[in-house]
Amino acid sequence: MHAPFVSQQVDTRAVAQIIQTYAPQAELCAWNDVVSNAVISQGTMTHAANATQLAPLSRDDIPGIFAKHPFVAAPMASVSDKSYRIVNECAGAGFAYSEMVSVAGLHYDSDKTWDLICPSDVEKPLVVQLFGSKPDQFRAAAARIAERLSDRLLFFDVNMACPVAKVTKKGEGSALMCTPEKAADIVRALCAETSVAVTCKIRRGYEQGNETASEFARVLEDAGAAAITVHGRYAKQLYSGNSCDACIERVAHAISVPTIASGDILTPERACTLASIPGVAGVMIARGTYGNPWIFSDAYTLFSQLQHAKTHDSASNGCAVCTSTLDMSADVSTLAPFRRSTSARLAAMRLSVHLLAAHGSHMARARSIMSWYLAAFPHAKAWRARFMTCKTLSDFLACINELEDSVCTSDTVCAINNKHVDTTVVDPSSSSLQASVFLDGSHERS
Ligand SMILES: Cc1cc2nc3c(=O)[nH]c(=O)nc-3n(C[C@H](O)[C@H](O)[C@H](O)COP(=O)(O)O)c2cc1C
Repeated sequence: MHAPFVSQQVDTRAVAQIIQTYAPQAELCAWNDVVSNAVISQGTMTHAANATQLAPLSRDDIPGIFAKHPFVAAPMASVSDKSYRIVNECAGAGFAYSEMVSVAGLHYDSDKTWDLICPSDVEKPLVVQLFGSKPDQFRAAAARIAERLSDRLLFFDVNMACPVAKVTKKGEGSALMCTPEKAADIVRALCAETSVAVTCKIRRGYEQGNETASEFARVLEDAGAAAITVHGRYAKQLYSGNSCDACIERVAHAISVPTIASGDILTPERACTLASIPGVAGVMIARGTYGNPWIFSDAYTLFSQLQHAKTHDSASNGCAVCTSTLDMSADVSTLAPFRRSTSARLAAMRLSVHLLAAHGSHMARARSIMSWYLAAFPHAKAWRARFMTCKTLSDFLACINELEDSVCTSDTVCAINNKHVDTTVVDPSSSSLQASVFLDGSHERS
């Protein structure tokens, strides 16, 4: 019998302070909700989920949670750890998925595996994604996780999408698409073990050109799956080529439980396009969060504008109440300037590195996260090389300070001409070289 999960090494009060300091500067609009997930209890901070008793969710709760939170943060191995999920939740992600966790690995009870599963105290209840091939191991894992996480667990997701050879050669991940009966057995075993909802994540098919997603999704629904996430690429494609939206639409048409769309969701416009497919209840954002956690709030803003426009006098493309003049036939990318200031980007970088340190994560993780944010700066390549030498929190903070010092924000120019100069940035490899950054992401040297 396990004790309920208690975060022991992480100082929740310190994490809350980090969020309170940097998230508002980073213009992450939902940070307050995240901090209020933790409450002060008898002098120490703890999570507040008990107060609401929302989680875990049952099968019947799944349509409602996606209706409320259509834009969710994807499972990403070696990326979507506690710190990464917190940043996304501060930015408005409806909820987040854990990195995929091996049910066989759980059997050995390692701290490392439990660390992937147990959310931090400030996080919302977490979707735990499991992978494996043996129904009994899924059953045992589900029981232990449900007991240990209690109301910090939102629901279970089964990975039937991972294309990595190390996984598929054991009949796990996307290989389950080749053995639908075994996949159904896993879902049935989980549903028999727990009343917590079980969802599945699949691909368009396994072999390129052989689309089996709709048929496979129906098998999983019949076995008890509460929703199906579809990544519109074949497993054999890995991450190459384009994700197929028509496949996602076909799956949504084939099943009666919610379909969640995944694949190439790199902009709020695309998130909204996929959310608008009939039968699609949610959109899972993965690489689109790289250096851009704001994609969640931008997607919500755009989605609510579009819905508002639909319900208010869509015939004349105008709204008497809010004086909105959205043109539903227009390219949505022209509707709103989804821009972020340099200072917001710098604050998001500081937030990320502080959170990684506070959670005792290996600081090497910060290198890739910094490199994604640096893409929005000129001389990104040279700055990336600088960040690659960082090892400790103070190394990263010093480098971010240097980057900031090299950036002369020109608010006046921005205010006068929204399209013109945002910043002037010094190339770290050449102190004389300057570049002007335009808000559309292009830059020129002066
Ligand atoms: C680094 C990385 C790790 C991933 N790890 C997982 C994982 O653990 N479980 C999973 O179901 N999908 C995983 N994925 C797939 C994503 O969740 C998502 O389905 C895929 O990237 C397609 O979305 P995108 O094109 O918008 O990135 C991973 C993707 C990346 C890039």
